[in-house]
Amino acid sequence: MKCALKENYCKDNINIEYIKQLGKEKSEENLNKLLLFYNGILPLNAKNKRKIIKATLLKGDSEQTLLKIQNKTIHFIFTSPPYYNARMYSDYTSYEKYLEKMCSILKQCNRILKDGHFIIINVSPVITKRPGREFESVRYPIHFDFHKILEEVGFYFIDEIIWIKPEYTVPNRIAGYLQTGMPLSYKPNCVTESLLVYRKKTPFLLDENIRHYSRMLANAVENTDTSNCWCWYISPKTDKDHPAVFPEKLCEKVLKYYSFSGDTVLDPFAGSGTFGRVAKKMKRVPVLCEMDNKYTKKLEEESYDNL
Ligand SMILES: C[S@@+](CC[C@H](N)C(=O)[O-])C[C@H]1O[C@@H](n2cnc3c(N)ncnc32)[C@H](O)[C@@H]1O
Repeated sequence: MKCALKENYCKDNINIEYIKQLGKEKSEENLNKLLLFYNGILPLNAKNKRKIIKATLLKGDSEQTLLKIQNKTIHFIFTSPPYYNARMYSDYTSYEKYLEKMCSILKQCNRILKDGHFIIINVSPVITKRPGREFESVRYPIHFDFHKILEEVGFYFIDEIIWIKPEYTVPNRIAGYLQTGMPLSYKPNCVTESLLVYRKKTPFLLDENIRHYSRMLANAVENTDTSNCWCWYISPKTDKDHPAVFPEKLCEKVLKYYSFSGDTVLDPFAGSGTFGRVAKKMKRVPVLCEMDNKYTKKLEEESYDNL
């Protein structure tokens, strides 16, 4: 993976006694060095960067626009990135270029996320159109590659939640096999999408994050998704303007389980802004990034500050 971690830090060279010493003397400089060790990322200069306190829209390429946000000011990130060149997207000259771009944006996400907080990425394998019948179509396991990138930029794996869609809503791949019954031609209909749950690498336990919030903000626990294989039978939402819209129910669930009321929450690939609308309803402060004017024009009508 050619992830552009220019300021990457070589952990192997670190002396463990030196790290212990840094932990004892709690100066800002030492804290930065510790974070460099744990996250592999240098803290960026905070000048010209903003802490966000109101619903905000960042128009443009999120690799650039996220640079405006201060380090460690976002409480939770949920997003569905473009699935390489699926649907109407054809922005990338190769799959490697696509992964490099995702890596640069996720690196920014790691920088602005508060220590120990969560990021959830909704992805699934994608198939690209073949140029003709004589070619085999290529299927990319995007979620496996995202795992590598997420680890590389400073997150660690927590869970994979499976979102199951009704079979009638997905492309039919099984028809050929059902006609012939020939082994090897079996291609099941893909009804699942992954929600990849990762936490920012941090030198403290989750309790440390939770203790900053009042008990009053706890969720009512009725109707909790209790199983360790969370299967959410949620229909994909159809939208006349955007081809890949989040169902509101999905946004509600992740916001409920992974953020508190009052938190600042980010979607770096906002599309039609479903996440932002649900976040507002649930009393979170949404930050949306989107580069397509078609969607930003509509989002501008929904009372977002521009940054
Ligand atoms: C899968 S869609 C997200 C749909 C969204 N979840 C919704 O509910 O509408 C991905 C979106 O990311 C936007 N996008 C792609 N690359 C981007 C980039 N580098 N910066 C900002 N937005 C980007 C696309 O224009 C597209 O609207």
